[in-house]
Amino acid sequence: MQSQLPKLALGTWLMGGTKDPDPNNDDAGDIKVIKTAIESGVSLIDTAQNYAGGKCEELVGQAIADLPRESIQILTKQNRLKLSYDEVIEGCHDSLGRLGVEYLDYFVCHAPNPDFELADFFKASNQLYKDGLIKQVGVSNFGVKSLQIAIDNSDIPIALNQLSFSINDSDILTTGVYDFCLKHKVPIQAYRPLVNIKEEQDSYRLLQEIAMATKLTPHQVLIAYLNSYEGISFTTRASTAEHWQQIKDALEVTLEPSALKELKQVHMTKQGAFAHFLDM
Ligand SMILES: NC(=O)c1ccc[n+]([C@@H]2O[C@H](COP(=O)([O-])OP(=O)(O)OC[C@H]3O[C@@H](n4cnc5c(N)ncnc54)[C@H](OP(=O)(O)O)[C@@H]3O)[C@@H](O)[C@H]2O)c1
Repeated sequence: MQSQLPKLALGTWLMGGTKDPDPNNDDAGDIKVIKTAIESGVSLIDTAQNYAGGKCEELVGQAIADLPRESIQILTKQNRLKLSYDEVIEGCHDSLGRLGVEYLDYFVCHAPNPDFELADFFKASNQLYKDGLIKQVGVSNFGVKSLQIAIDNSDIPIALNQLSFSINDSDILTTGVYDFCLKHKVPIQAYRPLVNIKEEQDSYRLLQEIAMATKLTPHQVLIAYLNSYEGISFTTRASTAEHWQQIKDALEVTLEPSALKELKQVHMTKQGAFAHFLDM
């Protein structure tokens, strides 16, 4: 029986470095952020093979080492430059080694890549599922075309599509992938929901105005707005228990229809940086 995708995941991008490991990284600080999220009730950790060249997965492994395995869920993403059948099998085994666990809760294709037969990722991940090494298969940055290939080639249901969705990125709405996911019952996990909140003046000013009127913070208004879309969950990186509490409180907020309408008007004018993936 497939478990339901939790509403919140801790995102771990920039833990351990950027693309490569940073020799000056504050490992203890990153581990503390992971532990704080878990103590705040976040049970799903979202990492990837190419975050800090694998070091991020190692830090996640260290942070969860003392916890009962079943108390925590781990999602990792297969490098999009390694999507042949053999590379996917090897990638999963390498991730398990770096994380120090015997199975992954979610094994996700990081993004489509036209240099590979996408079907091979699903053949390999379905085999990994049969071997008991992964519990669920997911995708990320998949537009309609790629998601159709995923659905056609996976015997197990696609457990999530991790997609960029924020006040300054409405691409999943304008390209039709949001509707396609809903139609095919593929849960959407919004990534980078908060990080670019101040990037555009008009959207930030509106978030501030609504925040003043509702006694929320602009970040909370943003979470409440994004959460008004059916079928959305989040992967986000918060460093403190206070920030997690604010996010959790925001998930309980229903904004006035007039506020939702104003936010949607500005949101629909914004294009994100990851649209190229959605065309593949
Ligand atoms: N699949 C993909 O291709 C892909 C691409 C990009 C990212 N991702 C995933 O998405 C995750 C999330 O994206 P992200 O880490 O770039 O950024 P994000 O989660 O959108 O934003 C993180 C920022 O939001 C702040 N924040 C969190 N809660 C807050 C609150 N209540 N009030 C004020 N500020 C708050 C954090 O500050 P504090 O640290 O001070 O709490 C941090 O500066 C990544 O970590 C990664 O796992 C996936």
